[in-house]
Amino acid sequence: MDIRAARREIGRLRAEIERHNWRYHVLDDPEISDAGYDRLMRRLLDLEREHPSLVTPDSPTQRVGAAPLEEFVHVTHAVPMLSLANATDEEEMREFDRRLKRFLKLPEEGAIEYVAEPKFDGVGVELVYENGALSVGSTRGDGVTGEDVTSNLRTIRGVPLRLRGKKVPRRLEVRGEVYMDIGDFDRLNRERGERGEPLFANPRNAAAGSLRQLDPSITAGRPLRIFLYSPGRIEGAAIGSQWEFLRRLPEWGLRVNRHVRRCGGIREAIDYHREMEARRGSLPYEIDGVVIKVDRFALQERLGVISRSPRWAIACKFPPRQETTKVLDIVAQVGRTGALTPVAVLDPVRIGGVEVRRATLHNQGEVDRKDVRVGDTVVVQRAGDVIPEVVKVVTAARPPGTGPYRLPAKCPVCGADVERPEGEAVSRCTGISCPARLKETIRHFASRRAMDIDGLGERIIDRLVERGLVRSVADLYRLKEDDLLSLDRMAEKSAGNLIAAIDRSRKATLDRLIFALGIRHVGEHVAKVLARRFGTFEAIQEAGEEELTAVREVGPRIARSIATFFRQKANLAAIERLREGGVTCAPAAGDATGALAGRTFVFTGSLERLTREEAARLVEGAGGRASGSVSRKTDYVVAGADPGSKYAKAKGLGVKIIAEEEFLRLLGRR
Ligand code: IVH
Repeated sequence: MDIRAARREIGRLRAEIERHNWRYHVLDDPEISDAGYDRLMRRLLDLEREHPSLVTPDSPTQRVGAAPLEEFVHVTHAVPMLSLANATDEEEMREFDRRLKRFLKLPEEGAIEYVAEPKFDGVGVELVYENGALSVGSTRGDGVTGEDVTSNLRTIRGVPLRLRGKKVPRRLEVRGEVYMDIGDFDRLNRERGERGEPLFANPRNAAAGSLRQLDPSITAGRPLRIFLYSPGRIEGAAIGSQWEFLRRLPEWGLRVNRHVRRCGGIREAIDYHREMEARRGSLPYEIDGVVIKVDRFALQERLGVISRSPRWAIACKFPPRQETTKVLDIVAQVGRTGALTPVAVLDPVRIGGVEVRRATLHNQGEVDRKDVRVGDTVVVQRAGDVIPEVVKVVTAARPPGTGPYRLPAKCPVCGADVERPEGEAVSRCTGISCPARLKETIRHFASRRAMDIDGLGERIIDRLVERGLVRSVADLYRLKEDDLLSLDRMAEKSAGNLIAAIDRSRKATLDRLIFALGIRHVGEHVAKVLARRFGTFEAIQEAGEEELTAVREVGPRIARSIATFFRQKANLAAIERLREGGVTCAPAAGDATGALAGRTFVFTGSLERLTREEAARLVEGAGGRASGSVSRKTDYVVAGADPGSKYAKAKGLGVKIIAEEEFLRLLGRR
């Protein structure tokens, strides 16, 4: 095909594709099948590939493909994107109407015309069209400046790259909401769950997260939609009212929600609010209220803005969706990090079109505060969130013979002690091998700053645990290359590398091992402090709460957590098996910041509290050096009972001689 014919054909295909996009996304009334649409797209792609010079940025083939960004650029909105004042009930809506009439000096019996719209629960955005072509798309941000997310907005099929029609404004700024349908959101989360990716809390977060991707190809894979509802600056088109504006948008190819309504007065707007509330549960997307706007732009202008909200509009929120039902049971769910969450098992109830069988009680404190008991009748709410929650108990309906609920003292999954440090909300399982948290335990254990087992990524951990090859971190040290090769998609080379990395970790330093155990409140720093002060794993393990608390930087909360950890039989077993697996742990690497950094010690005579070996390890743990013989370079000779010739030599050289007590003081242990 010669280039002139190609140009004609490409033009024809684009127009046809755009028309189908418009029918599908804006009018909600498609004319062809998906397969037919795909055929048109393929034909256009082929032609553009044959004639690259004919590709233009507004071609429907060019929605995806912009390169990932380093960061978003800020853009200032020509007209600030305001926020809305709230009305919480019908009386406040009437008061809003009266206020406007007073301000405009209109008689109270007269009527202001309004436009009523759903209030969409998504992400506010602005699109700018210059001479019909989409030039910039941005988030609302703080209302004054937002982020330039043009490449991401271009991937949304409901966003036309070029306005329809012969007469388009020279400049059109139009605001709207990017959102996700509830069904699409559920599907997306299910897929993410299957891939082990974190879930989005609700459709709004999913939409926001998807729109704020630096790589547009990720956004392109997310089921985002858009409704437009509000003008920014418009040049080259005369529009006198919100209603007229909303009617023009679809002609230009911009999607408007079909539940918008013109109301002859506040009474109709209130009716609209009631209707939408009743309809809310059957809409495919989340709305959290309705917005009432004065229709005429001239009136809007007279009314103006107060404190960043227009005086001419108000958001009328819906109460969160609630139902009452019965608590059949309360169970403790153990999460991936070992946190125990009390969950109410409910007599199934439909809330906003979804059947709810369980509701979270968050934590023990919340249970206490609400005093939720098995057998209670409770109010349950889905507040746009995925996880329903118990709001309150209908105390009048409480049956006799109930008692307060307490989370179990033992983990329902592994039987280890459950710990809830004072002042904290969350109760946690302390069992290092608890199946509920095993994957997370291993991930932490192997992480770079812990045992640094390179190549033991999340995927492999999942497979090792799911195949039952690893039931505790100690099992890592029993893995054979053949075990790894039995996992699908594991190449021989990477299996060999992983085995070598595991082997290297056998000699990790003491502080790393301590940190790797994932003891609550024992971070890297505390692990270093402990390694330095105690020198050996055994010494830490055997130290009681009191001895631990005596260490500077170890408070009672940390001490209790460590003591509890080492009281768990299963943890002791895992540690024993680590030892059997050859994990020896070298003393912490000479630490330039240690209490004894750069100092050389020599021991002579018999010490009272420490063996020579322990003493030497303590010195090294604190960044010092333990030597066997005295020289001018010796900083301290530590003399026990019946010191030998080293004592005399030290005296002769003028080296400082100290007693065991003094030595322990230097370490900060006394
Ligand atoms: S009009 C000055 N209309 O609500 C007019 N906003 O609190 C301001 N929103 O950030 C916006 N649905 O993202 C308007 N039908 C609707 C809306 C709507 C949702 C959001 C919007 C804005 C927030 C204002």
